[in-house]
Amino acid sequence: MTAPEHAPAVTLAEAPLAGPGALLAAVEVRKAFGATTALAGASLRVDAGEVVALMGPSGSGKSTLLHCLAGIVRPDAGEVHYGPHRLSALSESARSALRRGDFGFVFQFGQLVPELTCAENVALPLRLAGVGRRDARARALAALGRLGVEDVAAKRPGEVSGGQGQRVAVARALVTEPKVVFADEPTGALDSLNGEQVMRLLTEAARETSAAVVLVTHESRVAAYSDREVVLRDGRTTDAAS
Ligand SMILES: Nc1ncnc2c1ncn2[C@@H]1O[C@H](COP(=O)(O)OP(=O)(O)OP(=O)(O)O)[C@@H](O)[C@H]1O
Ligand SMILES: [Mg+2]
Repeated sequence: MTAPEHAPAVTLAEAPLAGPGALLAAVEVRKAFGATTALAGASLRVDAGEVVALMGPSGSGKSTLLHCLAGIVRPDAGEVHYGPHRLSALSESARSALRRGDFGFVFQFGQLVPELTCAENVALPLRLAGVGRRDARARALAALGRLGVEDVAAKRPGEVSGGQGQRVAVARALVTEPKVVFADEPTGALDSLNGEQVMRLLTEAARETSAAVVLVTHESRVAAYSDREVVLRDGRTTDAAS
């Protein structure tokens, strides 16, 4: 069969996402902290829009692998690729620009700025990216609405519940429409009902914007929201699951 005459051209910007290339990949990543080996050859690929759960016992290297994938921690050996970039080859300022522009983060304890209102917290990454105040506020309110917590917009993080705070944190991670959301035990401090709601909202919102999600969790109930589970043991991704 011949190719259609007017097949759509693949632009350079789209090329890394097209075909078999992963959006994000760790290849045989190793990392030690002093005498402690955190990662002993961990490999993982994440495709665009895919939700991957990183599981494994405490101390198995989940957070370290997430930090390497996000370009926060530089591996001792091995490589991390993001689209056309080899993260270890980029300067700290280039990696931080990439984190601001393409990545979103959710942590176990929302890590919202206590002095700012919830709406200001969500608007913050947009403001840092140079979006004007009004526009940033409107987008922040829309993001809070998508997460069902528009009513806490004017409150400070200390005045909202744990579940509401995590939804605000998810809104903040998604408001810039990142390509990848990194979530390290985002439901770890929540009861099971709130945890499930946050996971449902996080994965729904990520799917709406085609964001990939790298999710660290201990709970199989939470991992059930992923497309794929990868298990870490002693700093290695297990072959069967990766
Ligand atoms: N900054 C650091 N300094 C020293 N040791 C570290 C550091 N970060 C991680 N480690 C060690 O590396 C190993 C892997 O840690 P990591 O935080 O990646 O595990 P984890 O799977 O996320 O564990 P948990 O489920 O408890 O969060 C552990 O032995 C940990 O003590
Ligand atoms: Mg951890």
